[in-house]
Amino acid sequence: MELALLYKGLDRDCFTVLKILDSMLGKYEYVPLEIIERKSKLPPKVLARVLTKLNKIKAIIRTLTPKTGYRLTYIGLDLLALHSLSNAGVIAYLGTKVGMGKESEIYIAKNPEGQLLAVKFYKIGRVSFQKVKRVRSYLVDEANWIIRSKVTAEREYKALKDLIKFTPYVPKTYGWNRHAVVLSYISGIELYRYKVAIDPKGLLEKILSALREAYLHVGIVHGDLSEYNIVVSMEGDNEVPYIIDWPQYVYRDDPNHEALLRRDVEYVLKFFKRRYRVNIDVERAIKYVRGEAERLWV
Ligand SMILES: Nc1ncnc2c1ncn2[C@@H]1O[C@H](COP(=O)(O)OP(=O)(O)O)[C@@H](O)[C@H]1O
Ligand SMILES: [Mg+2]
Repeated sequence: MELALLYKGLDRDCFTVLKILDSMLGKYEYVPLEIIERKSKLPPKVLARVLTKLNKIKAIIRTLTPKTGYRLTYIGLDLLALHSLSNAGVIAYLGTKVGMGKESEIYIAKNPEGQLLAVKFYKIGRVSFQKVKRVRSYLVDEANWIIRSKVTAEREYKALKDLIKFTPYVPKTYGWNRHAVVLSYISGIELYRYKVAIDPKGLLEKILSALREAYLHVGIVHGDLSEYNIVVSMEGDNEVPYIIDWPQYVYRDDPNHEALLRRDVEYVLKFFKRRYRVNIDVERAIKYVRGEAERLWV
Protein backbone atom coordinates (compact mmCIF):
# COMPACT_ATOMS: atom_id res chain seq x y z
CA MET A 1 0.00 0.00 0.00
CA GLU A 2 1.12 3.55 -0.64
CA LEU A 3 2.84 5.40 2.15
CA ALA A 4 0.36 8.31 2.10
CA LEU A 5 -2.53 5.89 2.53
CA LEU A 6 -0.81 4.00 5.31
CA TYR A 7 -0.20 7.30 7.02
CA LYS A 8 -3.82 8.36 6.83
CA GLY A 9 -4.93 5.11 8.42
CA LEU A 10 -3.01 5.72 11.65
CA ASP A 11 -4.27 7.38 14.81
CA ARG A 12 -2.50 8.99 17.74
CA ASP A 13 -2.10 5.71 19.61
CA CYS A 14 -0.28 4.18 16.65
CA PHE A 15 2.24 7.02 16.69
CA THR A 16 2.67 6.68 20.45
CA VAL A 17 3.73 3.07 19.97
CA LEU A 18 5.97 3.79 16.97
CA LYS A 19 7.71 6.54 18.95
CA ILE A 20 8.42 4.15 21.82
CA LEU A 21 9.98 1.61 19.47
CA ASP A 22 12.03 4.35 17.82
CA SER A 23 13.34 5.57 21.17
CA MET A 24 14.45 2.02 22.04
CA LEU A 25 16.37 1.45 18.81
CA GLY A 26 19.65 -0.24 19.47
CA LYS A 27 18.69 -1.10 23.07
CA TYR A 28 16.63 -4.20 22.39
CA GLU A 29 16.47 -6.48 19.43
CA TYR A 30 12.73 -6.67 20.07
CA VAL A 31 11.20 -4.33 22.63
CA PRO A 32 9.35 -6.52 25.15
CA LEU A 33 5.60 -6.10 25.23
CA GLU A 34 5.65 -5.18 28.95
CA ILE A 35 7.83 -2.19 28.23
CA ILE A 36 5.53 -0.99 25.47
CA GLU A 37 2.58 -1.46 27.80
CA ARG A 38 4.22 0.50 30.58
CA LYS A 39 5.52 3.33 28.44
CA SER A 40 2.46 3.81 26.29
CA LYS A 41 -0.01 3.67 29.18
CA LEU A 42 -2.57 2.40 26.69
CA PRO A 43 -5.30 0.03 27.87
CA PRO A 44 -4.33 -3.54 26.90
CA LYS A 45 -7.17 -3.86 24.40
CA VAL A 46 -6.26 -0.64 22.65
CA LEU A 47 -2.60 -1.57 22.60
CA ALA A 48 -3.39 -4.99 21.17
CA ARG A 49 -5.39 -3.38 18.38
CA VAL A 50 -2.60 -0.90 17.62
CA LEU A 51 0.10 -3.58 17.56
CA THR A 52 -1.95 -5.83 15.29
CA LYS A 53 -2.53 -2.98 12.90
CA LEU A 54 1.10 -1.82 12.82
CA ASN A 55 2.26 -5.38 12.38
CA LYS A 56 -0.14 -5.91 9.49
CA ILE A 57 1.17 -2.92 7.57
CA LYS A 58 4.76 -3.99 8.38
CA ALA A 59 5.55 -0.81 10.28
CA ILE A 60 6.73 -3.13 13.05
CA ILE A 61 7.75 -6.78 13.26
CA ARG A 62 6.69 -9.15 16.03
CA THR A 63 8.53 -11.97 17.68
CA LEU A 64 7.00 -14.51 20.02
CA THR A 65 10.22 -16.07 21.29
CA PRO A 66 11.69 -15.99 23.85
CA LYS A 67 8.83 -13.64 24.70
CA THR A 68 6.56 -11.29 22.82
CA GLY A 69 8.29 -8.19 21.52
CA TYR A 70 8.30 -5.75 18.63
CA ARG A 71 10.76 -3.81 16.55
CA LEU A 72 10.50 -0.89 14.18
CA THR A 73 10.98 -1.20 10.40
CA TYR A 74 11.83 1.43 7.80
CA ILE A 75 8.11 1.70 7.04
CA GLY A 76 7.44 2.56 10.67
CA LEU A 77 10.24 5.06 10.58
CA ASP A 78 8.84 6.66 7.38
CA LEU A 79 5.49 7.09 9.11
CA LEU A 80 7.09 8.65 12.18
CA ALA A 81 9.15 11.09 10.11
CA LEU A 82 6.05 12.10 8.15
CA HIS A 83 4.16 12.61 11.37
CA SER A 84 6.83 14.94 12.78
CA LEU A 85 7.30 16.84 9.52
CA SER A 86 3.58 17.28 9.18
CA ASN A 87 3.19 18.47 12.78
CA ALA A 88 6.04 20.91 12.25
CA GLY A 89 4.23 22.36 9.22
CA VAL A 90 7.05 21.36 6.85
CA ILE A 91 4.86 19.18 4.67
CA ALA A 92 1.10 19.18 4.24
CA TYR A 93 0.62 16.61 1.52
CA LEU A 94 2.50 13.49 0.45
CA GLY A 95 2.31 12.13 -3.09
CA THR A 96 3.85 9.12 -4.78
CA LYS A 97 7.35 7.74 -4.96
CA VAL A 98 9.25 9.54 -7.71
CA GLY A 99 12.77 8.31 -7.28
CA MET A 100 14.66 5.37 -6.03
CA GLY A 101 18.34 5.53 -5.28
CA LYS A 102 20.76 2.92 -4.04
CA GLU A 103 20.13 3.90 -0.46
CA SER A 104 17.10 6.15 -0.60
CA GLU A 105 13.53 6.62 -1.74
CA ILE A 106 12.21 9.96 -2.95
CA TYR A 107 8.60 11.05 -2.66
CA ILE A 108 6.91 14.12 -4.04
CA ALA A 109 5.17 16.30 -1.46
CA LYS A 110 3.77 19.78 -0.89
CA ASN A 111 4.17 22.27 1.90
CA PRO A 112 1.18 24.13 3.39
CA GLU A 113 1.65 26.87 0.78
CA GLY A 114 1.29 24.33 -2.01
CA GLN A 115 4.90 24.41 -3.12
CA LEU A 116 6.26 21.16 -4.55
CA LEU A 117 8.80 19.34 -2.43
CA ALA A 118 10.80 16.14 -2.56
CA VAL A 119 11.15 14.02 0.57
CA LYS A 120 14.24 11.87 0.55
CA PHE A 121 14.03 8.93 2.96
CA TYR A 122 17.38 7.27 3.59
CA LYS A 123 17.18 3.48 3.54
CA ILE A 124 20.74 2.45 4.21
CA GLY A 125 21.28 -1.29 4.27
CA ARG A 126 17.86 -1.98 2.80
CA VAL A 127 19.33 -4.24 0.16
CA SER A 128 21.97 -5.94 2.24
CA PHE A 129 19.88 -6.77 5.27
CA GLN A 130 17.61 -8.95 3.20
CA LYS A 131 20.64 -11.12 2.54
CA VAL A 132 22.25 -11.24 5.93
CA LYS A 133 19.03 -11.46 7.92
CA ARG A 134 19.61 -15.05 8.90
CA VAL A 135 23.26 -14.75 9.68
CA ARG A 136 23.40 -11.79 12.01
CA SER A 137 20.99 -10.15 14.36
CA TYR A 138 18.72 -7.17 13.97
CA LEU A 139 20.57 -5.25 16.62
CA VAL A 140 23.86 -5.22 14.77
CA ASP A 141 22.33 -4.81 11.34
CA GLU A 142 18.98 -3.20 10.82
CA ALA A 143 19.01 -1.02 13.94
CA ASN A 144 22.47 0.19 13.06
CA TRP A 145 21.40 0.94 9.53
CA ILE A 146 18.42 2.89 10.73
CA ILE A 147 20.68 4.90 13.02
CA ARG A 148 23.09 5.51 10.15
CA SER A 149 20.23 6.61 7.91
CA LYS A 150 19.29 9.22 10.51
CA VAL A 151 22.84 10.53 10.79
CA THR A 152 23.11 10.67 7.00
CA ALA A 153 19.87 12.63 6.59
CA GLU A 154 21.02 15.18 9.13
CA ARG A 155 24.37 15.45 7.41
CA GLU A 156 22.81 16.13 4.02
CA TYR A 157 20.39 18.63 5.53
CA LYS A 158 23.20 20.60 7.14
CA ALA A 159 25.32 20.71 3.99
CA LEU A 160 22.43 21.86 1.81
CA LYS A 161 21.41 24.51 4.31
CA ASP A 162 24.87 26.07 4.03
CA LEU A 163 25.31 25.51 0.31
CA ILE A 164 22.16 27.38 -0.70
CA LYS A 165 23.59 30.56 0.83
CA PHE A 166 26.36 30.53 -1.77
CA THR A 167 25.04 28.82 -4.89
CA PRO A 168 21.62 28.52 -6.51
CA TYR A 169 22.59 25.20 -8.10
CA VAL A 170 21.59 22.90 -5.24
CA PRO A 171 18.12 21.98 -4.00
CA LYS A 172 16.81 24.13 -1.20
CA THR A 173 16.12 22.29 2.00
CA TYR A 174 13.06 22.80 4.17
CA GLY A 175 13.73 20.54 7.08
CA TRP A 176 14.78 17.13 8.23
CA ASN A 177 13.46 14.53 10.62
CA ARG A 178 14.94 11.17 11.54
CA HIS A 179 16.03 9.57 8.21
CA ALA A 180 14.17 12.07 5.98
CA VAL A 181 15.30 15.31 4.33
CA VAL A 182 12.83 17.70 2.71
CA LEU A 183 14.04 19.40 -0.47
CA SER A 184 12.65 21.65 -3.14
CA TYR A 185 11.28 19.46 -5.91
CA ILE A 186 13.41 19.72 -9.02
CA SER A 187 11.36 19.14 -12.07
CA GLY A 188 14.02 18.03 -14.50
CA ILE A 189 16.05 15.27 -16.06
CA GLU A 190 19.19 13.65 -14.68
CA LEU A 191 22.19 14.73 -16.71
CA TYR A 192 22.92 11.16 -17.85
CA ARG A 193 19.54 11.13 -19.65
CA TYR A 194 19.90 14.65 -20.99
CA LYS A 195 20.91 14.04 -24.59
CA VAL A 196 20.68 17.42 -26.25
CA ALA A 197 21.80 20.43 -24.27
CA ILE A 198 21.07 23.94 -25.58
CA ASP A 199 24.15 25.45 -23.98
CA PRO A 200 26.39 22.68 -22.66
CA LYS A 201 29.26 25.06 -21.98
CA GLY A 202 27.05 27.28 -19.83
CA LEU A 203 25.73 24.24 -18.00
CA LEU A 204 29.22 23.04 -17.18
CA GLU A 205 30.26 26.50 -16.03
CA LYS A 206 27.36 26.61 -13.61
CA ILE A 207 28.22 23.18 -12.23
CA LEU A 208 31.86 24.16 -11.70
CA SER A 209 30.82 27.46 -10.11
CA ALA A 210 28.72 25.50 -7.62
CA LEU A 211 31.70 23.25 -6.78
CA ARG A 212 33.79 26.37 -6.31
CA GLU A 213 31.33 28.02 -3.93
CA ALA A 214 31.02 24.75 -2.02
CA TYR A 215 34.78 24.53 -1.69
CA LEU A 216 35.59 28.15 -0.98
CA HIS A 217 32.67 29.22 1.19
CA VAL A 218 31.25 26.08 2.74
CA GLY A 219 34.59 24.29 2.77
CA ILE A 220 33.32 21.02 1.37
CA VAL A 221 33.83 18.67 -1.58
CA HIS A 222 30.84 16.69 -2.90
CA GLY A 223 32.75 13.42 -3.25
CA ASP A 224 30.26 11.49 -5.39
CA LEU A 225 29.69 13.77 -8.32
CA SER A 226 28.66 12.31 -11.65
CA GLU A 227 25.99 12.68 -14.33
CA TYR A 228 23.72 10.71 -11.98
CA ASN A 229 23.80 13.33 -9.26
CA ILE A 230 23.08 16.32 -11.45
CA VAL A 231 19.53 17.18 -12.50
CA VAL A 232 18.87 19.68 -15.31
CA SER A 233 15.74 21.78 -15.11
CA MET A 234 14.33 24.14 -17.74
CA GLU A 235 13.50 27.47 -16.13
CA GLY A 236 12.16 29.83 -18.76
CA ASP A 237 14.75 29.63 -21.52
CA ASN A 238 17.50 28.63 -19.14
CA GLU A 239 18.93 25.21 -18.46
CA VAL A 240 19.69 25.10 -14.76
CA PRO A 241 21.76 22.32 -13.24
CA TYR A 242 21.16 21.13 -9.69
CA ILE A 243 23.78 19.14 -7.85
CA ILE A 244 22.04 16.65 -5.57
CA ASP A 245 22.98 13.82 -3.21
CA TRP A 246 25.47 15.45 -0.82
CA PRO A 247 25.68 13.24 2.28
CA GLN A 248 29.16 11.84 1.61
CA TYR A 249 30.79 15.27 1.33
CA VAL A 250 34.16 15.80 3.00
CA TYR A 251 35.66 18.91 4.53
CA ARG A 252 38.60 20.73 3.07
CA ASP A 253 40.74 19.52 5.97
CA ASP A 254 40.02 15.86 5.19
CA PRO A 255 43.17 14.18 3.88
CA ASN A 256 41.14 12.78 0.96
CA HIS A 257 39.56 16.04 -0.08
CA GLU A 258 42.07 16.79 -2.81
CA ALA A 259 41.73 13.42 -4.49
CA LEU A 260 37.94 13.58 -4.23
CA LEU A 261 37.79 17.07 -5.67
CA ARG A 262 39.94 15.96 -8.58
CA ARG A 263 37.75 12.93 -9.11
CA ASP A 264 34.54 14.99 -9.04
CA VAL A 265 35.92 17.52 -11.54
CA GLU A 266 37.37 14.85 -13.82
CA TYR A 267 34.11 12.93 -13.90
CA VAL A 268 32.10 15.93 -14.92
CA LEU A 269 34.62 17.15 -17.49
CA LYS A 270 34.87 13.70 -19.03
CA PHE A 271 31.12 13.48 -19.31
CA PHE A 272 30.82 16.90 -20.96
CA LYS A 273 33.60 16.06 -23.36
CA ARG A 274 32.10 12.73 -24.34
CA ARG A 275 28.48 13.85 -24.56
CA TYR A 276 28.71 17.47 -25.72
CA ARG A 277 32.26 17.92 -26.99
CA VAL A 278 32.99 20.66 -24.47
CA ASN A 279 36.66 20.88 -23.64
CA ILE A 280 37.99 22.38 -20.45
CA ASP A 281 41.45 21.67 -19.15
CA VAL A 282 41.27 19.57 -15.97
CA GLU A 283 44.06 21.39 -14.17
CA ARG A 284 42.54 24.73 -14.98
CA ALA A 285 39.12 23.62 -13.74
CA ILE A 286 40.60 22.31 -10.49
CA LYS A 287 42.43 25.60 -9.95
CA TYR A 288 39.22 27.48 -10.58
CA VAL A 289 37.26 25.37 -8.10
CA ARG A 290 39.98 25.76 -5.50
CA GLY A 291 40.01 29.52 -5.96
CA GLU A 292 43.54 29.56 -7.38
CA ALA A 293 42.22 30.95 -10.66
CA GLU A 294 39.52 33.61 -10.86
CA ARG A 295 38.16 32.45 -14.20
CA LEU A 296 37.61 29.12 -15.82
CA TRP A 297 38.91 30.22 -19.18
CA VAL A 298 42.43 31.47 -19.70
N1 LIG B 1 15.04 17.39 -4.97
C1 LIG B 1 14.69 16.49 -5.89
N2 LIG B 1 13.70 16.75 -6.77
C2 LIG B 1 13.34 15.83 -7.69
N3 LIG B 1 13.90 14.62 -7.83
C3 LIG B 1 14.90 14.30 -6.98
C4 LIG B 1 15.35 15.21 -5.98
N4 LIG B 1 16.35 14.62 -5.30
C5 LIG B 1 16.52 13.41 -5.85
N5 LIG B 1 15.66 13.20 -6.88
C6 LIG B 1 15.56 11.98 -7.72
O1 LIG B 1 15.84 10.83 -6.95
C7 LIG B 1 17.02 10.17 -7.41
C8 LIG B 1 17.87 9.69 -6.24
O2 LIG B 1 18.27 10.80 -5.46
P1 LIG B 1 19.73 10.94 -4.84
O3 LIG B 1 19.71 12.14 -3.95
O4 LIG B 1 20.75 10.91 -5.90
O5 LIG B 1 19.79 9.64 -3.92
P2 LIG B 1 20.77 8.36 -3.88
O6 LIG B 1 21.74 8.68 -2.79
O7 LIG B 1 19.92 7.25 -3.48
O8 LIG B 1 21.44 8.23 -5.20
C9 LIG B 1 17.72 11.20 -8.29
O9 LIG B 1 18.44 10.59 -9.31
C10 LIG B 1 16.57 12.02 -8.83
O10 LIG B 1 16.02 11.40 -9.96
MG1 LIG C 1 22.39 9.71 -6.30
